[in-house]
Amino acid sequence: MTVKKKTITQMMLEEHHCMKRDRRTLDREFTKVITDDNFHDWKMKFLLRLRDYRFHLAKHIDMEEDGGYMRDIIEEAPEHEGHVNTLHLEHEKLVHQLDDLIDELKILEHAEKSVLDGIEIHLKDLLKALDNHAANENKLIYDVHFQDYGFSSS
Ligand SMILES: [Fe+2]
Repeated sequence: MTVKKKTITQMMLEEHHCMKRDRRTLDREFTKVITDDNFHDWKMKFLLRLRDYRFHLAKHIDMEEDGGYMRDIIEEAPEHEGHVNTLHLEHEKLVHQLDDLIDELKILEHAEKSVLDGIEIHLKDLLKALDNHAANENKLIYDVHFQDYGFSSS
């Protein structure tokens, strides 16, 4: 069965909405005061939010790679294949980074400030890397689709 382009676009928009929603909740996690008294409640909520985020990120990536823009760009503008491959590698790296972050949190037993600070830094780095990745994807899509008309995003 072929999944129509319009269906994939709609599914990607839905995933994007879920990721934006989950991201807002992730951003709020480190504004809380975490002590040994509230640590286990906080850890469980944060862990489940990270797992939700990972689920939506992996689905979003699957759709970009298999039904979304990547296949189209390689077919329409094969000269950009190297750029697409770089973005493909970034997908793997982003998911690995998120898995590492989940593992880091999973083994934590107490509200150890230095470890919590490290997890917060890793999360912020990951979200920044995701933003850069999305900006590079948008630039590539814009350039490929508008280059025939003489427009450029740069
Ligand atoms: Fe992507």
